[in-house]
Amino acid sequence: MVAESVRVRAVQVAAGGDLPAYVYDLPGLRAHAGAVQAAMAGSAQVFYAVKANPAAEILRTLWPFVDGFEVASGGELALVRELLPDAPVAFSGPGKTDAELALTRELGVHRLHVESPGELARLIATGARQDILLRANPDLPGADIRQAADSPFGMDPDGLATCVRLLRDAPWITLHGIHAHLTWDRHDAPAMAELARRVAAWALPWLREHLPAVTEPELDLGGGMGVDYGAPHTRFDWPAYSAALSSLGSELESDLESDLESGLESGPGSGRDRPVRLRIEPGRSLTAYDGWYVTDVLDVKRTHGRHYAVLRGGTHHLRTPVARGHDQPFTVIHRASAGPALTGTVTLVGQLCTPRDVLHRDAEVTGLRVGDLVAFGLAGAYAWNLSHHDFLLHPKPSFHYVDGP
Ligand SMILES: Cc1ncc(COP(=O)(O)O)c(C=O)c1O
Repeated sequence: MVAESVRVRAVQVAAGGDLPAYVYDLPGLRAHAGAVQAAMAGSAQVFYAVKANPAAEILRTLWPFVDGFEVASGGELALVRELLPDAPVAFSGPGKTDAELALTRELGVHRLHVESPGELARLIATGARQDILLRANPDLPGADIRQAADSPFGMDPDGLATCVRLLRDAPWITLHGIHAHLTWDRHDAPAMAELARRVAAWALPWLREHLPAVTEPELDLGGGMGVDYGAPHTRFDWPAYSAALSSLGSELESDLESDLESGLESGPGSGRDRPVRLRIEPGRSLTAYDGWYVTDVLDVKRTHGRHYAVLRGGTHHLRTPVARGHDQPFTVIHRASAGPALTGTVTLVGQLCTPRDVLHRDAEVTGLRVGDLVAFGLAGAYAWNLSHHDFLLHPKPSFHYVDGP
């Protein structure tokens, strides 16, 4: 499972005493992002959700393959602007502060995704020009309840109606359409495309009715393309998703043509004189695959009938399996280690004094010894940046970006 270049670097890093380590495969990331770009070309713009992994090397590597970046804080905005001053940026996220709105004016963003009427009122009060989408949270079948109805994100129809009233008196704010991030970890591309269809079926009539002056309406469908931690070699079906979005786009255009032919709602200001633009904001599904968390076995023990391998580091470096409740996939890189070898079932834990510091429960291993290396895969997204680094004040990992042929 581990790319040869990553395996070689992992062994070098271990020999240098630099474990635990994050090792990233940049050629692998280019190949994957290039495949996503090729699949999505012509159906939707792709903005990378920086929250998944904001490392500078990752952002620079991705930039040739994406149309822009989605940020969710002033910190992420400042980082992207510093590294990639010309990249289009969409700024989402609940609870934007006045300081963040000021930073938006200073650094410029392509789109600001408004989360509430209160946020819109504060934005309007600045008097500054800004291009926006309204983040909508319609209660649609197929939406994930954690991102939709049972969440504080975005606005229901009442909140959106308040925004419509506020926008009437604020011509310096330009509304371009709707943002709807309504799902999470969805593996089924046709089901995601069906959700996109429902978003369009709700959003476009809503825009036409309430904000007919919106030309070139945009629909940002958010992220949520799944990563299967139990099947690390599988990928979200980007070609199927793209094909479904393309046919949705064609349907929306032919609806438009029939409206125009029947003389309905044509002409400037109708909001129906240009096709719809689709955008997506994947995070996990772009960067998860090309990061590894590499460490070594400090102790192998048996207690109460169960075997444990205690690893250097732990979930304070790689919180992903605890946060999601899964077993992190891994590969053992055997070293010329002395001591007894374990073949059988073992639970891989870290150095923290909490029973939740579990990276993989009940794994099958062959000949595992103290000193062997363990490389956890799918550790390129929501991994280091999601973890509680300072708990117990263990040393931080080292970081390595494998590049070149
Ligand atoms: C608004 C928004 N867009 C995009 C994403 C990225 O989602 P994922 O990493 O699941 O693709 C998130 C994640 O929380 C989000 O909140």
